Amino acid sequence: MQVALVGLGVMGKNLALNLIEKGLTLVAYDNNPDAGEELLSLAKKEGFAERLHVVSELRDMISRLDTPRSILLLVPAGELVDRVCMDLIEAGVEVDDIIIDCGNSNYKDGIARKLKYQNKFEFATMGISGGAEGARHGPAMMASGSEGGWERIIPSFEKVAASFKGESCFARVGQSASGHFVKMVHNGIEYALMQLIAEMYHLLRLGCGKSPQEIAQIFDTWSEGELNSYLLSISSHILTLENKDQTPIVDLIDNKVGAKGTGLWTAQNALELGIAVPSLVAAVQARHLTNTHDTLASLEMTYQQKAVSSTQIDLAKLKSAFHLASLLCYRQGLALIKGASRSHQWKVDLAKTLQTWRAGCIIRADYLDQIAAGNEFIDNMQNEVNALREIAGEALKTGLAFPVLGASQTYIATLTTPSNGHLVQAQRDYFGEHGIKTHQGEPCHLTDLAIIDAKVR
Ligand code: 6PG
Repeated sequence: MQVALVGLGVMGKNLALNLIEKGLTLVAYDNNPDAGEELLSLAKKEGFAERLHVVSELRDMISRLDTPRSILLLVPAGELVDRVCMDLIEAGVEVDDIIIDCGNSNYKDGIARKLKYQNKFEFATMGISGGAEGARHGPAMMASGSEGGWERIIPSFEKVAASFKGESCFARVGQSASGHFVKMVHNGIEYALMQLIAEMYHLLRLGCGKSPQEIAQIFDTWSEGELNSYLLSISSHILTLENKDQTPIVDLIDNKVGAKGTGLWTAQNALELGIAVPSLVAAVQARHLTNTHDTLASLEMTYQQKAVSSTQIDLAKLKSAFHLASLLCYRQGLALIKGASRSHQWKVDLAKTLQTWRAGCIIRADYLDQIAAGNEFIDNMQNEVNALREIAGEALKTGLAFPVLGASQTYIATLTTPSNGHLVQAQRDYFGEHGIKTHQGEPCHLTDLAIIDAKVR
């Protein structure tokens, strides 16, 4: 099997080595010749340079490949993807060739590109997760589209991807550009889980007075059981790191958090589709809030530093609350994928989606089995539901902020306790005659129901 790869940045370079190691012959290109040189020397060091051809012209790449060609793009999302596609057309790609955008592109661009290039070549999308390490040794690969080009590639990519209990973490999750939608939501979940872990740390550190080392130990005991996850284990490791003066590394790092945009897209899409993902939205806003201190609006106001109240937290309950809140982040993400799939008619397979997340990706976790088991898991988690309620309450009493913990409690509370939507319905009808629906689903107005004049004020 022979493939080409355009873009030899950190992800591209590592994926290139993985592809060659798994037996593929690779033709690689980057517009920076140093990147090609570096790849060549890495491949030589690993002893598989004979299956690598680094080219300095796209035309050369095209002529070296047997037809129909398979070309992977690992270039930054946005305009550059189109620029490379146009260059490849000029270099001679043909209608049966497949070009797969493997970057963190917006799925809307993917849909537009499928149309734009339909008579030039087959445009496909694939979300890849796992950072440099995953790309090198086995990433999660969320591919989409049902066209012919994939058939040629799948057997090789199943080997290139990570595997979990013998099953590959490569899957064609659904139609059209749904692979990029799934990767986008993967990142939305990633933001929420990262923030949730940071909130557990925050509560233990400032609310309970524990040191980073002690918190790392708590996270390690959680990891020994069913809560084992990649993000929890790296967080624990980070908390053990110290400089030469034994200052915890976390204390040397500024609080402002940046983002490349996939979390924001997740929140935007959820809001547009009307699918509630409060924990995912809260995580995006939590990052925005870390930057608030320096904004003009906040500089114009004077906020006095407020004292934090200390608290005693039952660690077993904290673990249960964290467990449930983590599961809820995935459930919200999956609900979003399901809703989007329905409205776009993508036929996304959630079981396959979860299979791609089992290994190699940033949100891999042992408890994905529980999520795969379906919605009913909440009914069997009464202790965790109670713990989340109690811990969220205790956490808020410290005066610290817990956006994802609070949003997760709100989410589960909304699903499992009576709602107050009836009053909001009535308010809308009161001032705007927007109509209401009764318990029987009958559309009417307040004035139809009230025995006295509903507009008495
Ligand atoms: C992955 C990661 C990767 C990257 C994201 C998030 O799955 O390998 O999600 O894609 O870390 O771009 O980055 P930001 O936090 O900068 O948005």
